[in-house]
Amino acid sequence: MTAAPEGVTVRAAGEADLAAIHAIEFASFGDPWALEGFRALLDHPRAKLEVAVGADGELLGYAVAWYVADESEIANIAVAAHARRRGVGALLLDRILRAAAAFGAKMVFLEVRESNEEARKLYEARGFEIAGKRTKYYRKPDEDALIMRRKL
Ligand SMILES: CC(C)(COP(=O)(O)OP(=O)(O)OC[C@H]1O[C@@H](n2cnc3c(N)ncnc32)[C@H](O)[C@@H]1OP(=O)(O)O)[C@@H](O)C(=O)NCCC(=O)NCCS
Repeated sequence: MTAAPEGVTVRAAGEADLAAIHAIEFASFGDPWALEGFRALLDHPRAKLEVAVGADGELLGYAVAWYVADESEIANIAVAAHARRRGVGALLLDRILRAAAAFGAKMVFLEVRESNEEARKLYEARGFEIAGKRTKYYRKPDEDALIMRRKL
């Protein structure tokens, strides 16, 4: 298991984080969410937008999860390119898994591009397994999504 990166903390996102979140989103995905999509999650009763912040205050990554009934869904997770492979993604994912368990979720789901080896490895390392496929789920470029799930 990846060790928690030194000095990195996770907290709820606020309005002041949105520009840095969106910059990472834009650099990470071919079909990025609009900034307004992130803003709509601030103070949302069923969603959490959390950020990982370095010791110097730099925003290194973020994650979005939904908590509904007895399921949680990881809707988005990304780490700034220069901060990858240091355990930040795993830290964000572990936070979601703990929050989902505390919420009473029995299962956590997510979708991932079939070709996204880094993310698939991260999820597999945290006990997710492939539960199905959504054909042509993604755009820019068109690609199937794997549905992954982990029991809690
Ligand atoms: C996927 C992503 C969030 C991982 O973040 P990260 O901070 O680099 O991940 P971590 O350093 O916590 O890695 C945890 C584990 O994931 C796996 N992993 C992550 N990146 C990997 C890579 N490039 N190659 C192989 N395994 C990788 C490894 O098992 C790793 O553990 P290890 O370092 O002890 O071997 C990051 O690569 C990213 O932002 N990608 C672009 C956005 C994206 O694709 N998001 C997922 C959408 S479904």
